[in-house]
Amino acid sequence: MPMADRDPAPAPATRLAEAGRHLEVSVNTANLPVHRASTVLFDTLAQAEAAGEAVGKAERHATTYGTAGTPTTMALMDALAEVEGAGHEVRAALMPSGLAAITTVLLAVLEPGDHILVADSAYGPTRIFCDGMLARLGVKTTYYDPTIGAGIDALIRPGTKLVWLESPGSYTFEVQDVPAICTVARERGVLTMIDNTWASPVFARPFDWGVDVSVLALTKYWSGHSDLLMGSAVVREPLWPKLWSAVRQLGQCVSGDDAYLVLRGLRTADVRMQRHQENGLAVAHWLQRREEVESVLHPALFSHPQHALWRRDFSGASGLFSFSLEPSLFAGDARKRAAIAALCEHRRHFGIGYSWGGFESLIMPGRIEHLRSARPWTGGPLIRLHVGLENPDDLIADLQAGFETMQHALTS
Ligand SMILES: Cc1ncc(COP(=O)(O)O)c(C=O)c1O
Repeated sequence: MPMADRDPAPAPATRLAEAGRHLEVSVNTANLPVHRASTVLFDTLAQAEAAGEAVGKAERHATTYGTAGTPTTMALMDALAEVEGAGHEVRAALMPSGLAAITTVLLAVLEPGDHILVADSAYGPTRIFCDGMLARLGVKTTYYDPTIGAGIDALIRPGTKLVWLESPGSYTFEVQDVPAICTVARERGVLTMIDNTWASPVFARPFDWGVDVSVLALTKYWSGHSDLLMGSAVVREPLWPKLWSAVRQLGQCVSGDDAYLVLRGLRTADVRMQRHQENGLAVAHWLQRREEVESVLHPALFSHPQHALWRRDFSGASGLFSFSLEPSLFAGDARKRAAIAALCEHRRHFGIGYSWGGFESLIMPGRIEHLRSARPWTGGPLIRLHVGLENPDDLIADLQAGFETMQHALTS
């Protein structure tokens, strides 16, 4: 065929845009490939329009664009619905952080004039959102004592839309009677939402307890390696259209790379959680014997005030807990600060950091006075530990050195 009759060969710039995009080899690997995508391509306009309609109807696995989902994010959504909601009709959505998951579910269901009940021991930024943006949008919040149980009934009023739970609570680790609260809320037509990050689905089954929504900071145990941020909201099927609509309107989405890492993390979540539990308990038992320690706030200890509830509802404990220091040790505020700094700083193994749920151990004083109203903390200074996957003997030696430095700071 004469040269002029053939399609002209694509120019180098066109080849660069097209080469290598149409691989026809299919290889079966143990893990799914990572899809990085903004653009989703269709063969015909009719297919593109049908996909748009399916996304509008919140159909499973429908997508038109990276924000609506890619095979990698869909795989993670399916995995979360299966693991967190086992035995229940639920759907999962992904958000770029745990806090974004919390704020998105609240925005999805609340309207101006609504009233909500929030556990006094909820994660601090949840409270800041309720007092800030939700208050500005005309939603009123009442904080309740997390140990209230079925007594929540007395706080429900005509405009009450939902009860927010977190069990155990942040920093103070009160275990809630979630089934009792859910029973009352359901009878009164009120939704229940829980932050299940501490136990994760490995140790807790919030949908068996009766909740309508369970939020996880996947940043913590489910990614498990302190290298990404992500959150999820798992909701009962009837709430899905509202949640999906909020996710779409707010542009909430996550990258394929991060979704892949969370999928990888959940393959080992069970064994990691068991080890966090063992190590955490070894450190907690040792702390109980220290004279500088007033109390150890760990739900799996017999001394914990709601230990029986924890035993009834949870199948294990993660590596996050607090202890309070004996208040009589501290004569004045400046001295207290210096002593706590001496305890926390210069440790070999415990890092100072606000996060938790990774492989590594962390220590952080809890300054929660401004984050409590219904159940103020009245004990000694709080120190929160995340016990990681290191050998617990090394962690105990590290804390022992910390107490010695603290004693030195108190006596010098
Ligand atoms: C109990 C709890 N929920 C939610 C979050 C928020 O997760 P993220 O840091 O991914 O926003 C945190 C973070 O520390 C947390 O402790």
